[in-house]
Amino acid sequence: MKESRILLGVCGGIAAYKAAALTSTLVQRGAVVEVVMTDDAQRFVGPLTFAALTQRPVYTSLWEAQEKIPHIALVRSADAFAIVPATANVIAKLAHGIADDLLTNAALAATIPLVVAPAMNAAMYEHPATVENLRLLRERGVTLVEPESGFLAERERGIGRLADEGKILAVLETVLARTRELEGERIVITAGPTREPIDPVRFVSNGSTGTTGIEIAREALARGAEVDLVLGPTSAEAPGKIRTHRVTTAQEMYDATLPLAQRASIVVAAAAVSDWRPSRAHAQKVKKTGAELNVEMVRNPDILAALGEHKNGAYLVGFAAETEEHEANGREKLRRKHLDAIAVNDVAEGRGFGGGENELVILHGEDGRIALGRGPKRELAARFWDAIAALRAKT
Ligand code: CTP
Repeated sequence: MKESRILLGVCGGIAAYKAAALTSTLVQRGAVVEVVMTDDAQRFVGPLTFAALTQRPVYTSLWEAQEKIPHIALVRSADAFAIVPATANVIAKLAHGIADDLLTNAALAATIPLVVAPAMNAAMYEHPATVENLRLLRERGVTLVEPESGFLAERERGIGRLADEGKILAVLETVLARTRELEGERIVITAGPTREPIDPVRFVSNGSTGTTGIEIAREALARGAEVDLVLGPTSAEAPGKIRTHRVTTAQEMYDATLPLAQRASIVVAAAAVSDWRPSRAHAQKVKKTGAELNVEMVRNPDILAALGEHKNGAYLVGFAAETEEHEANGREKLRRKHLDAIAVNDVAEGRGFGGGENELVILHGEDGRIALGRGPKRELAARFWDAIAALRAKT
């Protein structure tokens, strides 16, 4: 916590006074805390309380600073943004990108980790709209600190009480530690399909969208790594701070990846590389005739196997997309390609490709196994790095 810079957003709920206690603890633990309050929050606690606790100005309006753009400056200079307490209204705004005050503008501009601790009446918390909004936030990688059951402001018992301070602090500690977990690492990630031309308009490819690799790249960046992403043809985009190298064919992916991997400390091969390519690509579009078209296919170079053969000390993680005997096949690949770890997923019946959920198991060493469970790809990317960073720390 020491020397961490935390932006604390306080919304208008009875639990706002607990944000003052939290601020005091954070300051005592050596964090630098900047506070943003909504108008409603100021009805419950005065800005002066937070100003006195942090010895810093408290931000309440988009319009008070003349020369700076406060919401941008605030999120750029912080390590994490914690919204405590978060009301149903602000959660709805965060879920739908509504930015109508300083706090919600800052949240929309934030690329730093967002921690949201909801507090509200039980009926509001359980309303399908709030449930759906929280699901959207979770899917986008926001860390939620679930509220507790207990005595609510309405003098009734139910779920919706702000999580206790110890729990919020523990979550913040984890999120802040993660932001530095991969500092100093140079990570190369391959992602997406490859496309092997038959002629100028036809090709052989597969259903990969690159989403898993892009999410893994995004999460590595968020944890402080320098990231090179070698990305096959997909409409999915990676964040600007990731150095993205666009390629089309397996050979191009090989040529781009090998030199980058020379200087890497970790390589993650998440690409669904075409194992074969047509032996020749016709220069002109092949005209249809009554006859059959036979396309001879030849093997593509195996990028990951080449990296495993000439190991330069980089921690090597592969992926295995399997439709049967998942773990046995994964373990065989782990050994055959000289990998440090392999993430196995089930692609039977089209699972695993595209957006939505996935399920991964990491196999490592002789018989190591870490089940990452099921979840949205962004959440799995976080669990992937939790596991890989811990394994790598032991090497
Ligand atoms: N890989 C690669 N270059 C290739 C083929 C695969 O780097 N030409 C990598 C993938 O990115 C992935 C792993 O190797 O990390 C997958 O291994 P592979 O043996 O190709 O498995 P699958 O294609 O999943 O399955 P199979 O061998 O059963 O065809």
